[in-house]
Amino acid sequence: MKPQQMIVRHKLFDRLCHWTIVVVGLVTFLTGFSFFFPSFQWLSGIVGTPQLAKVMHPFFGIAMCLLLALMLIRYYHHNKWNKYDLPWMKAVVWVLLQKEDNIPPVGHYNPGQKMLFRAFVIFVLAFVITGVMMWQPYFAPLFSPETVNWATLIHSACGILMLIALVVHVWMATWIEGSITGMLYGKVSRAWAKKHHPMMLEEEDHK
Ligand code: HEM
Repeated sequence: MKPQQMIVRHKLFDRLCHWTIVVVGLVTFLTGFSFFFPSFQWLSGIVGTPQLAKVMHPFFGIAMCLLLALMLIRYYHHNKWNKYDLPWMKAVVWVLLQKEDNIPPVGHYNPGQKMLFRAFVIFVLAFVITGVMMWQPYFAPLFSPETVNWATLIHSACGILMLIALVVHVWMATWIEGSITGMLYGKVSRAWAKKHHPMMLEEEDHK
């Protein structure tokens, strides 16, 4: 088979899901961060006014978490830990130095991506649980003020941690040339798969 021959990496449904999460997530994050400090309030301008931001943030947040949960369920089988992951982790220096010849092969996702996947699972659960507990005027009155304070603290901490995780995610996506094109158009070349995810190619050939 020719190295330039294309193979599917992301199905249309998953790509639509992913890019919808990016748009909905942007509104969720900007409105969320606008509540952090008075000096961040201008971020609520993305939806018009601070009052509208307060109303819209939970709904956009729920939509982001539901779509992300759906995507995580669909990608679960690619993100199981396997025997190829530890050797890759031990060789992570070569990955950072981009010395491809010294990097042990991995499948559809490398351990760095698998760890981010797990972080996304934790964030989705934490955001939904704490977000519902804080949601005025619907659910917050069901909890004590102290519980709501704890929920707010965890929710805000997760917001900052998820932002860091997303910076890493986008950095990884831009660092591996051809990765974003794969998420945009769905396909990658066999040569790309051989270089970055060789075991994916084997899985593909055994279909
Ligand atoms: C502009 C921002 C973003 C860019 C450029 C981007 C890029 C990408 C790319 C290129 C992939 C495919 C990686 C591969 O084929 O190896 C991917 C996968 C993924 N992205 Fe993003 N992404 C962005 C934002 C987000 C956001 C905001 C979320 C969630 C809140 C997210 C969640 C995911 C998930 C769950 C996957 C599947 C990977 C896995 O199963 O580990 N992405 N992204």
